[in-house]
Amino acid sequence: MSLNLAILYGSVRTERQGIKAARFMLNTSQARGHTATLIDPLLYPLPLLDKMYKEFKPGQAPRPLQRVADLIIPADGYIIVSGEYNHTIPPALSNVLDHFLEEYFRKPSAIVCYSAGAFGGVRAAMTLRAMLAELGMSSIPSLFPIPHVQDAFQEDGTPADQKFHQKVREFFEELEWYGYALKHARTHHCPRSESSTQSLT
Ligand SMILES: Cc1cc2nc3c(=O)[nH]c(=O)nc-3n(C[C@H](O)[C@H](O)[C@H](O)COP(=O)(O)O)c2cc1C
Repeated sequence: MSLNLAILYGSVRTERQGIKAARFMLNTSQARGHTATLIDPLLYPLPLLDKMYKEFKPGQAPRPLQRVADLIIPADGYIIVSGEYNHTIPPALSNVLDHFLEEYFRKPSAIVCYSAGAFGGVRAAMTLRAMLAELGMSSIPSLFPIPHVQDAFQEDGTPADQKFHQKVREFFEELEWYGYALKHARTHHCPRSESSTQSLT
């Protein structure tokens, strides 16, 4: 069995560092036999949110939004790679997340957080956990925090510390458990509504 995983990353800075962590997650996903795509906001640029995907009639969404939707909709789970900007998540990550809602429902997410300092972006991860729950893709219990991200990987995502391989294996085993469990559950009865507080339609 394998999963379809979408990896969401949210920095468009010229000097961005977290892209290497995102590549590590992409490489690991593929090495474990999953179909995985990195949704890099530089390659999948979206304007600041005007209309959500669901507000467009079928076939009417702008091309850049449809390209992202084509990855978000079939995914069985999401790996969210988030830096910490002022103790919360980067705006480009929030922007792509906000374009969708029901498309995420009943699928797990996993948080990879990072920062330049020693705390590994865990303050952003706490904000993100609440946000992902509201989006209907509750996050698995484990985090994958990466301190000193600028020194942690080569450009292609190869980790500098070999211990990352063991840590990431445990992280993926947890995500896969939830991914397979929810994939199976989605073939049966699903509750009509997941989100108590949001209604646009
Ligand atoms: C606007 C901004 C705010 C930041 N705020 C924090 C912060 O609150 N805590 C922290 O540990 N690092 C902070 N940093 C440093 C980032 O952890 C570091 O620059 C990291 O590489 C950013 O991710 P990126 O390179 O993928 O854009 C901030 C960086 C930027 C650009």
